[in-house]
Amino acid sequence: MNGLTRADLDALPTYVPGRAVAGAIKLASNEVPYGPLPGVVEAITEAAANAHRYPDMGVVALRQALAERLGVDAERVATGCGSVALAEHLARAACHDGDEIVYSWRSFEAYPIIAATTGAISVRVPNRPDHGHDLMAMAAAVTERTRLVLVCNPNNPTGTAVRRAELDAFLDAVPADVLVALDEAYREFVTDASVPDGLEVYGDRPNVVVLRTMSKAWGLAGLRVGYLVAQPPVAAAVRKVITPFSTSAIAQAAALAALAADAEMARRAALVVAERERLEITLSKLLPDLPETQSNFVWLPLGERSVPFAQACEAAGVFVRPFAGEGVRVTVGTPEDNDVFLAAADSYFSST
Ligand SMILES: Cc1ncc(COP(=O)(O)O)c(C=O)c1O
Repeated sequence: MNGLTRADLDALPTYVPGRAVAGAIKLASNEVPYGPLPGVVEAITEAAANAHRYPDMGVVALRQALAERLGVDAERVATGCGSVALAEHLARAACHDGDEIVYSWRSFEAYPIIAATTGAISVRVPNRPDHGHDLMAMAAAVTERTRLVLVCNPNNPTGTAVRRAELDAFLDAVPADVLVALDEAYREFVTDASVPDGLEVYGDRPNVVVLRTMSKAWGLAGLRVGYLVAQPPVAAAVRKVITPFSTSAIAQAAALAALAADAEMARRAALVVAERERLEITLSKLLPDLPETQSNFVWLPLGERSVPFAQACEAAGVFVRPFAGEGVRVTVGTPEDNDVFLAAADSYFSST
């Protein structure tokens, strides 16, 4: 405690980034391993020549390009410094001190931080035994103080996804004056047709907001571009609380170039999915209760073995992301990197 900043922040867990060491294989941050998409580096280089100028604060060209791709009006789109920032802006736009934000747990580790820094109260609903969201319990957890429910689909770090029928019932059960954010950071890796595209299926609902990112499948994690699609009044409220100019000119140019390379994005996402399926087949032989994944990572619910397993991987030159006492999240990498990881996993399980 320092007496200068909020004392309650002392109890707040710090966001833990995936570990990275030069020369090691990094499967810890859910990045796609194939480098920036074609045209991106050139767009960045060109934009760098104007680095002394402020970016377009309205992000007009990028919002327009996103709107066209998504088939919505540009006034429904907001961009920000990663979708994590947009989730925070949304919470700020929705909540007063003491209001409640409902989310499943374990889920994205930024959610508790977002709730606390907004002054809202976190209401955590435990995941089901299959590691997925318990949507009906989440709906039941909504009170008069709830302003926002976060549905992470697919869920980070467990990889599980909620299906159309359960999401329909959940959205029907949530009061119309409570915002529901569908956090679809991993949407591009979803292959099960029963997992709904939140925008396509629920985009016309006034209280639904869809969060997406250019960080994962689009390969721009280092530039920090996320976007949100909501009905115009909600999107306008979010744009009011966004830190001015937080989508940099270089990020805007890079995102536009990436969107133009959408066929290559899809090809790479398919490579990730093929490798994910290979990992699932091999890992499920080592770990029979391996949860399903619709994302670019797998979740190993190893409980107390999580940290030792991650240490064993690290000794083999692979960084994965342990959540002490719960599980280990492993990002799908290149086939070669995945082979190194699988060999480390095999050797760990055969020796314990
Ligand atoms: C579920 C989920 N939402 C949002 C984000 C944030 O992504 P970014 O801020 O890079 O757009 C992540 C990143 O790990 C995530 O896992």
